[in-house]
Amino acid sequence: MRAATPADATAWLEMRCALWPEGPDPGNAAEHAAEIDSWYRGEFPRGPWDVLFAESDDGRVVGFAELSIRTTAEGCVTHRIAYLEGWFVRPEVRRQGIGRALVRAAEAWGRARDCREFASDADPENGPSVAAHRAAGFADVGLVRCFRKDL
Ligand SMILES: CC(C)(COP(=O)(O)OP(=O)(O)OC[C@H]1O[C@@H](n2cnc3c(N)ncnc32)[C@H](O)[C@@H]1OP(=O)(O)O)[C@@H](O)C(=O)NCCC(=O)NCCS
Repeated sequence: MRAATPADATAWLEMRCALWPEGPDPGNAAEHAAEIDSWYRGEFPRGPWDVLFAESDDGRVVGFAELSIRTTAEGCVTHRIAYLEGWFVRPEVRRQGIGRALVRAAEAWGRARDCREFASDADPENGPSVAAHRAAGFADVGLVRCFRKDL
């Protein structure tokens, strides 16, 4: 588990497109590429924001954890909360402990930034994600339905 280098941009883009494909073009690649580019330039629009990568023994980037610090999160009592914004492991290497290792590295990231709580969210229908959150030590703190309308 390690911090990002500029050489990770291509792998990060591939994995982001797999995790969040919804968008106007295949894999929503243009938006992801623009966000990755702005992150490397230090101009990410939704900061503070960081990313950790999992690298295999043969040097391949096989997973990532995107992290932020939020002032509020469901079930939390403090106002500086490390938050798991994105969590992905390539399908061919899942169930080998990489996801859990990314969470452990993310916890160290949060502690180093004076956070005393760590939070996340998952689609309730994403069973593997819910199971992996529980296995990584997260407690269920509720289920929220989200709504919107145009103004
Ligand atoms: C969620 C995710 C990151 C987990 O990564 P991973 O490397 O497979 O996780 P781990 O190997 O560390 O799994 C830890 C534990 O989580 C649970 N778990 C993980 N995947 C599971 C699955 N498909 N079904 C049931 N339990 C699962 C198990 O308890 C597992 O331990 P075990 O393998 O010893 O039984 C990965 O499944 C993934 O990238 N999913 C698609 C993207 C996604 O949904 N991300 C989360 C968005 S909120």
